[in-house]
Amino acid sequence: QEGPISKQQQLKMINVAHRGASGHAPENTMAAFQKGVDMKADYIEIDVQMSKDGELVIMHDTTVDRTTNGTGAVKDLTLEEMKQLDAGSWFSEKFAGEKIPTFEEVLDEFRGKTGILIELKSPERYPGIEEKVAKALIERNMHKPNNKKMVIQSFHHESIETSKELLPLLPHGVLLGGGWAGVTDEQLADFAAYADYFNPTISIVTPELIDRVHAVGMKMYPYTSRSQEQAYELFSLNVDGIITDYPEHVYDHPGKN
Ligand code: G3P
Ligand code: CA
Repeated sequence: QEGPISKQQQLKMINVAHRGASGHAPENTMAAFQKGVDMKADYIEIDVQMSKDGELVIMHDTTVDRTTNGTGAVKDLTLEEMKQLDAGSWFSEKFAGEKIPTFEEVLDEFRGKTGILIELKSPERYPGIEEKVAKALIERNMHKPNNKKMVIQSFHHESIETSKELLPLLPHGVLLGGGWAGVTDEQLADFAAYADYFNPTISIVTPELIDRVHAVGMKMYPYTSRSQEQAYELFSLNVDGIITDYPEHVYDHPGKN
């Protein structure tokens, strides 16, 4: 069976491992990020929040309840408390003992090995998180374009405007939920003033929206692809990349060899 795009287009399709290769390993753990790198994803996507004692940690939900053996809000737990938790067993016993990583641990382990798509998750709960993220990147000289790309994105668009001011050399992105199906040209132009990526939920992606986003100079990586069919459909629509739990859905494309 032929896929929907040519081999040449396939080679250009950007492959983002969502929360790491989270179809294969527990999301937002070092195991999931390493799996994304092993599967040759172009980027790993990570969700950054802040602990009670001001440390940057990688966690999707605003509580630790779903993905660890603990309970409580990220903002009410210290890093030390979170480091005691098992962030792997909920996914499979094979990953028992995986820890919640810090942002700095992820930067130190994966810099130069993969692109990193950094999501500022619920930044309204964490005043000053943009400055902390910027500081960690600047300390490592990761605040300018490099051979491996860094992109900073959020559903909280003001937070991205703030981050862009702190890190003007890095590309930024806006995340859009289902309520943005009717985004106006004026809103697109406003986004394009500080963002390089317009990353929507798959359900609002149409050929017209892709054309309009491209017309103002932004790229589009929709989230979250979880099946081969969804990935093929997005390829046929000419998106620039996909955010997927299964990086193999990009490279398993029949046109690839
Ligand atoms: O990268 C986009 C995607 O991660 C946004 O949704 O809920 O998985 O963080 P969520
Ligand atoms: Ca995310």
